[in-house]
Amino acid sequence: MRISVIGCGYLGAVHAACMAKLGHDVVGIDIDDGKISELAASRAPFFEPGLKELLGEVQETGRLSFTTDMAAAAGSTVHFICVGTPQKKGENGADLTFVDSAVNALLPYLSANDLVVGKSTVPVGTAARLATTVQQSAPAAYLLWNPEFLREGHAVSDTLHPDRLVYGVTDGSEDHPAVQVLDQVYATSLQGGTPRLVTDLPTAELVKTAANSFLATKISFINAMAELCDAAGADVTLLADAIGMDDRIGRKFLNAGIGFGGGCLPKDIRAFMARAGELGADQALTFLREVDAINMRRRTRVVELARELCGGSLLGQRITVMGAAFKPESDDVRDSPALSIAAQLQLQGAVVTVTDPKALANAARRFPELHYEESTDAALQGADALLLLTEWREYRDLDPHETLKQVSGARILDGRNVLDIDKWRAAGWIYRGLGRP
Ligand code: UDX
Repeated sequence: MRISVIGCGYLGAVHAACMAKLGHDVVGIDIDDGKISELAASRAPFFEPGLKELLGEVQETGRLSFTTDMAAAAGSTVHFICVGTPQKKGENGADLTFVDSAVNALLPYLSANDLVVGKSTVPVGTAARLATTVQQSAPAAYLLWNPEFLREGHAVSDTLHPDRLVYGVTDGSEDHPAVQVLDQVYATSLQGGTPRLVTDLPTAELVKTAANSFLATKISFINAMAELCDAAGADVTLLADAIGMDDRIGRKFLNAGIGFGGGCLPKDIRAFMARAGELGADQALTFLREVDAINMRRRTRVVELARELCGGSLLGQRITVMGAAFKPESDDVRDSPALSIAAQLQLQGAVVTVTDPKALANAARRFPELHYEESTDAALQGADALLLLTEWREYRDLDPHETLKQVSGARILDGRNVLDIDKWRAAGWIYRGLGRP
């Protein structure tokens, strides 16, 4: 099948490469020249495990090309909309400029029976509005919503082996003619047993925002428990293990720490609240305000703990922050709690060095005032305190005895609760976790 993928960021670049891997002929389209020339040369414009190799592999087959010219979409049967929906500046709602302009730019190239398939996360109601736009310009084309659930750091395998496929179609019916076409696109996954649900447009849009809200709530729930554990002298990691053994709860996404960040969860729960307000259903989502508040409180809490760890004042303390990305296996620093904490510490007088295996270039663009050090060894030299804020394998595997030889002060704050307390304390470290005695 011939497929166009409009928007080649974290979502679209991976989607385009994976669609080509599944055997389709794919063109990736983006307005960003730099991104397109990188992708065309089989270089991933961001770090995502396996993407570079996949780009090389599928580009050799001739089934994947990249361009800035929307006219290249002509002739494709399926057009995936994969552009970003960031938070509006100064507001909670989602900025739909990119989605609207992508669909509008695509309209002149649509033919009868083409599918315009939205994958971006949008406020409920957007798909119905866009369906009207498409209908007015290309009455024999279809608009669908097919939300994407991929996680950064696992994007390639999540796209090739999704845990479910959701197709939102205008009448919500299995018999909608577009369903069969999308089934051909995803034939490999469907044959592999991936469940597929056909819904109406608003349900498909809501599946995505509801899923992300649930995940955010789960993380904030355990972080609220961490606050309680701190107050009561209990251990939140054991608490999570114990409650997670209940199948109905499950252990995943119950890791207490510095909270969630990234390009999705924070802005998605805010956009969801804003949209609920517009729909007159704001009361239904007031709990998300608390989820957001608990999450943001984690950052303040870590700054306070770091101050305590440094003996009551941050002034002049040399603090090494391990991790800048919002999570491991990613170079994404959008709304990264680690970076936000690093910046706060610096503002409060600490001398901060940030290190990260992949995210330093992005971090430096966002916070040029911080000091960055690529080598972990160099970053550890002479530190008065260490803060582990993104749980990259190399930080989890640090040897407490070896690390002790490099620093000035044997103090460590484990912002992700991933280190072995007993091992670090036995090696002579003052260890602080979050919600751990
Ligand atoms: C998320 C959703 O998981 C994905 O389905 C959706 O398509 C996009 O948004 P992603 O942003 O890649 O994916 O990251 P995710 O793995 O969900 O982690 C989000 C944040 O939560 C990270 O900052 C992570 O460190 C944090 N987190 C996660 C916790 O603090 N504790 C946990 O137990 C799990």
